Amino acid sequence: MRVLSVQLRDFRTYARAEAALGPGLTVVHGPNGAGKSNLLEALYFGCTGRSPRTHNERELISFGAQAARVVVRGNDGAQQHELSVAYGAGPDGERGVKRMTADGAAVMRLLDVDFRPLLSVFQPDRLELLKGPPAVRRAHLDQVVAAIWPLRANDRREYSRVLAQRNALLARIRAGRASDATLATWDRELATAALAVREHRSSAVELLAEPFAQRAAQLGLNGDAALDYRPRSRAAGVDEFVAELQAKLASDLERGFSGHGPHRDELAILRDGRELRLYGSQGEQRLALLALLLAERTVLARERRRTPLMLLDDVMSELDSQRRELLAAELSADGQSVIATTDLAHVPGAGDARVARLRVSPGTILQEALAA
Ligand SMILES: Nc1ncnc2c1ncn2[C@@H]1O[C@H](COP(=O)(O)OP(=O)(O)O)[C@@H](O)[C@H]1O
Ligand SMILES: [Mg+2]
Repeated sequence: MRVLSVQLRDFRTYARAEAALGPGLTVVHGPNGAGKSNLLEALYFGCTGRSPRTHNERELISFGAQAARVVVRGNDGAQQHELSVAYGAGPDGERGVKRMTADGAAVMRLLDVDFRPLLSVFQPDRLELLKGPPAVRRAHLDQVVAAIWPLRANDRREYSRVLAQRNALLARIRAGRASDATLATWDRELATAALAVREHRSSAVELLAEPFAQRAAQLGLNGDAALDYRPRSRAAGVDEFVAELQAKLASDLERGFSGHGPHRDELAILRDGRELRLYGSQGEQRLALLALLLAERTVLARERRRTPLMLLDDVMSELDSQRRELLAAELSADGQSVIATTDLAHVPGAGDARVARLRVSPGTILQEALAA
């Protein structure tokens, strides 16, 4: 689905606002605090039902208002689509209520709506993907798997479910309230799901590896950039995985939870064989993150014929002019993207007729240019 417009109601700085996106690049500009990130966040929220910035959705509601609402309209060829998310504050301290619709019908999860746009976000917080603990990268890799092969996300959910059951059983055995006789059936189920998850992650990394190395080189990351998936288990099949589990049973029982399996894998992001997490500068980590997101975009376009809507918050300020040109060219080649910047001059081609331009100031969005 191509996004045509977004409508905001009591969302952060916006009481009531609307903006049209271009078919390719849309530039959002305005000084610090004007509401650029808020607008990008609203787009993400309207397409996914989540915020990329916060888990506390209360923060999204404009100060003094009771509910925030975002409506995203778009099309898929001749087919019109509409997604909406409304979040109402609960009474003091209680959870609020979220309502989501897709083409007018209530849905539990927008993520499962097949015509919704895929999204990819670059924002300063996302550096956590390079700097943070392995769990952040695992979760991201699993999202990439789900975006490339939506059905394979079931294996990840199944793995979590079985892992939780096995952990609960370990805790009961440890407390002397269960025998370890039933553990064997859980071990086999865990092994089956674990091997599927490992397989999917490894296939995704295989697809990403080359485009990632290429993008990183183009963006000027010195040295050879590489992705290295490091699964915990080397098991060739279910039996071997079960044997690995059994070898670790004593320590699992001691701790009361499973210490072996894909929930302990790592996706290492390397430059000349060394982890950027440990040895990369902030600038290098930024380039690597951008290269990874662009590589994912390439892979999704190739494998699913769907290019994610890219939301790039404040990416240009730290790139030199040559890299800005490169990024702008790459983004304009295919799919939709929205770039937020304080300085219009930092976005090459911002004045082109094909580029939509929005100027924001607290509470308002001025549609400066509608893309031709
Ligand atoms: N729920 C809210 N209601 C009203 N204003 C908010 C809310 N949440 C954040 N803000 C305001 O939004 C502004 C920041 O907007 P932001 O989009 O991050 O700016 P920028 O253009 O620099 O990206 C701040 O002034 C902040 O006080
Ligand atoms: Mg911002």
